[in-house]
Amino acid sequence: MGRVLYEKKGRIAYITLNQAGKLNAIDLQTTEELAEIWKNFKDDSEVWVGILSGNGKSFCAGADVGKMGLGKEERWTIEKSMIFGEHRMGPSNYRIWKPLIAAVHGHVLGAGFYLSMECDIRIASEDAEFGLPEPNLGIPTLFAPYMRDHLPRGLAMEMLLLGERISSKRAYEIGFVNRIVKREELMTSADEIAEKLTQKGPLCLRAMKEVYYRCSDIDNRTAFDLIEQLFTPVMNSEDVVEGRRAFIEKRQPQWKGR
Ligand code: COA
Repeated sequence: MGRVLYEKKGRIAYITLNQAGKLNAIDLQTTEELAEIWKNFKDDSEVWVGILSGNGKSFCAGADVGKMGLGKEERWTIEKSMIFGEHRMGPSNYRIWKPLIAAVHGHVLGAGFYLSMECDIRIASEDAEFGLPEPNLGIPTLFAPYMRDHLPRGLAMEMLLLGERISSKRAYEIGFVNRIVKREELMTSADEIAEKLTQKGPLCLRAMKEVYYRCSDIDNRTAFDLIEQLFTPVMNSEDVVEGRRAFIEKRQPQWKGR
């Protein structure tokens, strides 16, 4: 069974993270599978709308900390990064203009939070919590620029710098989440919205989505060069090795500032 499932029902494609035992933490294989799925979804004329969700207790607890490499020999570069490397996990990298719905529950952290940002409409269960725990591991989050599109600055800073999480209620209040539902109604609710979307002209929706995103896309792309420049020394520091090691050894990290 793959790390990500791809199923189709009528005009709707279901993309499901499928590593429940690890809270759907994302490793390189997941990213590769997602990249393949986004390409299929984009080119598949049978499906018009996608629903992204996660199996098990949570939508996604972020990048797989254990698979990030702990030794200095594994020097971090943007090309080797699990999220923004050769196989990119976000659908926007494939210029997908078909509408995407994120149906999220439980932990929606790091790369999981990013994936939810990459969808157009977000349905969250009451228990969903959004956050960026990367700084707890000494890792600068790659998703900082994406937050500008979705969150007011004060809240973005609270989440980025303090690592504060927000509930689905707060996420709804700021307009990030479109609908909050009971956990057991999550997929029904996503289906309902997907069905509504299939009733609209598919080409019209795609053109509107493309125009909307391409107008706001420019700054994020410029920001990408800055990410590479600023993050490469941090990602290759001793503190990053220590942060991940401490997580795996279930202890507090001992930061050195180098
Ligand atoms: N990478 C790798 N494994 C992860 C993971 C991650 N990001 N998040 C969870 N897991 C694993 C746990 O290690 C655990 O595995 P185990 O049963 O073999 O010990 C399993 O998933 C269940 O997680 P657990 O920690 O027992 O669940 P919890 O409900 O007590 O806590 C979290 C949930 C999300 C608070 C906690 O798992 C966590 O802090 N995860 C790391 C989140 C993170 O830092 N993400 C950003 C990475 S850059």
